Amino acid sequence: MNQIPDVLFADQGFTTWLIVGASRGIGLEFVRQLLVRKDRIIATVREPWAAHASALWGQAGSDHGRCQMYICDILSEDSIVKFVSQLTTISNLKIDYVVICAGVLRYPNRSTELSFDEFAFHLHTNTIGPIITAQKLLQTNIPIGTIVFLSSDSGSHGTFREIEDGFAAYAASKSALNMALRHMAAELKRKDDDTIILAMHPGEVATDMSNINIPWEVQGIISPEESVRKMIDVIQSKGIQHSGTFWTWEGKPYVW
Ligand SMILES: NC(=O)c1ccc[n+]([C@@H]2O[C@H](COP(=O)([O-])OP(=O)(O)OC[C@H]3O[C@@H](n4cnc5c(N)ncnc54)[C@H](OP(=O)(O)O)[C@@H]3O)[C@@H](O)[C@H]2O)c1
Repeated sequence: MNQIPDVLFADQGFTTWLIVGASRGIGLEFVRQLLVRKDRIIATVREPWAAHASALWGQAGSDHGRCQMYICDILSEDSIVKFVSQLTTISNLKIDYVVICAGVLRYPNRSTELSFDEFAFHLHTNTIGPIITAQKLLQTNIPIGTIVFLSSDSGSHGTFREIEDGFAAYAASKSALNMALRHMAAELKRKDDDTIILAMHPGEVATDMSNINIPWEVQGIISPEESVRKMIDVIQSKGIQHSGTFWTWEGKPYVW
């Protein structure tokens, strides 16, 4: 998967982003915009040959080696460990920003109806996978500036969305993600580790995930382009004092 000599990637003058879950949707849009900005990107997909990942290959083909692709399936600890160990072989790698986009929503997922396996699937993908991916990255010697978890307004207790019929497992998985990442931020602070941990709600974004038949009207749908453009600004505006906080794509603090 590693397509360019490490020496090219070791240049410290560039801002380097790791986008986990870059095959489509918000993750793919991060890659597209970061390439335009001339940043360097490590992008992960779980199935590089899948038709829906082909857009990413197209991006990478014209980027003069600034986007490197790796395989990472966050449902598999082995896959996460293998991916992270590949990163450790890149000399002088520093990662300024990690954005964990990978996530699932299988609609509907009602508490009164869902199977054990369906619930576990949401928790494994949206909670455990992202946290373990971040944990494995933090356990390397790779300097990491900021880790951003794509959470959701659905996971907020403070703005509980009773209208969201069919979102129980999804909402629970994002809520659990929020709690685990807050603990991650607190643990890092206790260890004097300067890596910044952020949760973000990307907005109601027009992607495959939101392309579902729900009986209520979703207000304020935005494009992936707008969501990501604004999230990049928000992410880059945050310092260590913001670690363990939750933000919208517009830079408004969000209630847990
Ligand atoms: N869209 C919204 O309105 C919205 C709102 C709030 C929060 N979010 C959150 O934003 C994030 C991105 O959402 P999206 O709208 O871009 O969704 P999407 O279009 O459905 O894309 C989901 C991405 O996650 C990847 N993924 C799924 N399971 C994975 C796994 N086991 N390992 C690695 N990658 C995996 C997918 O890869 P494959 O192509 O291989 O399936 C795909 O790249 C998610 O965490 C979502 O919960 C989205």
